[in-house]
Amino acid sequence: MRMRTRGHLDERLEGCRQLFLGDGPLPSPLHIEIGCGKGDFINQTARLHPELWYIAVERVSNVIVLAMEKAKAAELTNLKFILGDFAANAERFPDGSVDRIYLNFSDPWPKNGYAKRRLTHGRFLELYKRILSDKGEIHFKTDNRELFEFSLETFPKNGFTTGEVTFDLHNSGFEGNIMTEYERRFSEMGTPICRLVAKKV
Ligand SMILES: C[S@@+](CC[C@H](N)C(=O)[O-])C[C@H]1O[C@@H](n2cnc3c(N)ncnc32)[C@H](O)[C@@H]1O
Repeated sequence: MRMRTRGHLDERLEGCRQLFLGDGPLPSPLHIEIGCGKGDFINQTARLHPELWYIAVERVSNVIVLAMEKAKAAELTNLKFILGDFAANAERFPDGSVDRIYLNFSDPWPKNGYAKRRLTHGRFLELYKRILSDKGEIHFKTDNRELFEFSLETFPKNGFTTGEVTFDLHNSGFEGNIMTEYERRFSEMGTPICRLVAKKV
């Protein structure tokens, strides 16, 4: 949905103000999604697991507002949002404070010159390693085979094991998958979805 004006967007963000993560200690057990987009995945996940806490990070304001409005309409009390780039906000997460990170259909940045912007680049994996608890996990899904193969190399190089690896999630027998907006779009086009779970060594 397009915002009519910047003022209109500000008004809508203001209407969701109580859903922005505030200061103070973070709740636990905590799962986060980096790059939540329009938020179908994190809203549905948070609704299914009222016993867990969730934070969704998204750097584009006219996208995050849609995710926040869904959370507001559903009256979710276990989901908060951070508007901004994850790297610029990583300090908000103390060491070991996060039990799970979801990376869903992260931007692939196909040109090598932009590899550092990939959310599975070593630069980001170092940040994840610090904020993840000892039993912490990263659940990663993508339609992009090149990004997936890149990630299969970067995780082990940066202190993670990889498991539950599939190059065709929807035909893998995996149960309980929650589709994201991008996942729905790519699977309707017939693109297989790749998935892995990375764990701290
Ligand atoms: C391709 S979209 C996928 C959205 C959603 N996860 C899905 O699967 O439908 C990637 C999203 O990640 C966000 N993003 C990319 N890099 C980010 C970063 N460093 N910090 C926060 N958000 C980021 C983008 O703004 C975009 O909305």
